[in-house]
Amino acid sequence: MLRLAILISGRGSNLRSILQAIKTRRLVGVEARVVISNNAQAGGIAIAKKFNVATEILTPSGLGGWSFDKKLLSLLEKYTVLPSNGLICLAGYMRILSPKFVERYKMRIVNIHPSLLPSFPGLHAQKQALEYGVKVSGCTIHFVNEGVDSGTILLQQPVRVMDRDSEETLSKRILAQEHKLYPRAIKLIAEKRIEVKGRKAMLI
Ligand code: GRF
Repeated sequence: MLRLAILISGRGSNLRSILQAIKTRRLVGVEARVVISNNAQAGGIAIAKKFNVATEILTPSGLGGWSFDKKLLSLLEKYTVLPSNGLICLAGYMRILSPKFVERYKMRIVNIHPSLLPSFPGLHAQKQALEYGVKVSGCTIHFVNEGVDSGTILLQQPVRVMDRDSEETLSKRILAQEHKLYPRAIKLIAEKRIEVKGRKAMLI
């Protein structure tokens, strides 16, 4: 069993797509152990509860970097989501993990980003894409390294940008693809079908 800890800060629609995939057995051999939010108001907390998944709120209260991540680590240990058996899924988690934490969970943390990386990392990726004028954007699942949105790419899904797109319409179409991509990526990891060599993740 691959044990998931899903980290959120907000709405939680990707969280929902993952939990739904587990519930409907599109994702097997995977167990959602805990949903952790750094924001007590996150909509995703109610979603986790609806799916009967344990929730934890870890408010920063002034702590940054490793001092905060140490607390995160204790929670992961409490739910036995360990580097040996677990996967941390960032799903709209708005904090940057400290290098020390990333090192502990090396290649055991994945993130979803609403652009085709390495284009448009960071915040407001859909707005960045529109302002740049690209004709195609999309979403990316990548392993998390010590940088921002810069780890090895696991899966990408392109989405066409329409002339009349607003940030809202483009985000909505990308999000629909995110919801398919995240469960697919977790499935590949659970089935041990990903081999990583340097910057390349290959399907085996
Ligand atoms: C998604 O667009 C995701 O790509 C980005 O943050 C957003 C989270 O949305 N990292 P949700 O909370 O999953 O609805």
